[in-house]
Amino acid sequence: MNRHKSAGIKTIAVMTSGGDAPGMNAAIRSAVRTAINHGIRVFGVQGGYEGLIEGDFVPLDAEAVSNIIHKGGTILETARTERFKESRWRGKAYDELRHMEIDAVVLIGGNGSFAGADAFTREFPVPFIGIPKTIDNDIYGTDMAIGFDTAINTALEAIDKIRDTANSHHRLFFVEVMGNDLGFIALHTGIAAGAEAILLPELKNNTAQLIQTLEKGWVRKKRSMIVVVAEGAVEGGAAEVARQVGERFKHFEIRVTNLGHVQRGGNPSCADRLLASLLGNEAIKSLLKGSVNVVIGQQAGGFTKTSFPKAAGGKHELDRHLLLVANELMR
Ligand code: F6P
Repeated sequence: MNRHKSAGIKTIAVMTSGGDAPGMNAAIRSAVRTAINHGIRVFGVQGGYEGLIEGDFVPLDAEAVSNIIHKGGTILETARTERFKESRWRGKAYDELRHMEIDAVVLIGGNGSFAGADAFTREFPVPFIGIPKTIDNDIYGTDMAIGFDTAINTALEAIDKIRDTANSHHRLFFVEVMGNDLGFIALHTGIAAGAEAILLPELKNNTAQLIQTLEKGWVRKKRSMIVVVAEGAVEGGAAEVARQVGERFKHFEIRVTNLGHVQRGGNPSCADRLLASLLGNEAIKSLLKGSVNVVIGQQAGGFTKTSFPKAAGGKHELDRHLLLVANELMR
């Protein structure tokens, strides 16, 4: 474990980076309030790594994080930054941090952000501590990333609504969900929505097999069907699968819905607010106990610490048991 003398931590910066995810504000609130309770001065960084490079800091007190726990997005705003990949811009960020006398950075981010933190902390002596967020749930070392629970509930609600139309019109719907190159959102929502099929990047998807599954459903007198397609499952996405299936499976009218960025927004679920509150609190406590340059997560109810390179580069695997259950229930 990467340990560091933390007794000297008097001032920290809190930042959000990468794609927004519901629950980021709850994590900011928790980290800020915990730090203040320990007598630490807190600055927020506006706009992720761009803000760090530009020295865009705002003082945060307990009041500044009032009334945000229930809000989606991030009050600190966020960005996906190319500049931080270059050493000279990381050097500029270091100068800005030293100028503000900031002793450590709390980073609420995902894989790309943790890779950036890894590069920075290898070069410069300002430690980081990570809190994992992403609707994709693709961060190694934590069962759940902040935002995933809200996203699957948002997607599920949408698929339930689509089911109403599918039933009423006897249609086959292909619903594309996000997830980057992993199938967490698709697997969880597909099972919960009772989808007829789920296409995942982790499995070899085969149109002939999919048509066979749909034919079986037709024989069993199903009069509407939903196929959940993870965005990374098939080149061309749900639209392309629908096109290929439509050429050979003619029992239903076909429609395609891409749920898109609605999955990223909205008020965080109770589970995401709790997770964000726990991880924000634990991140500050871990920092004060000397754990740095790690991501604080949760596995099987206990806290975990994962190094930045592992969190950024390790593969978060789908739950095998869930895969088996999905397979059994879709027969
Ligand atoms: O990582 C979150 C995510 O929403 C992915 O699911 C998706 O592939 C990507 O971000 C979309 O990115 P952008 O908001 O830049 O279009």
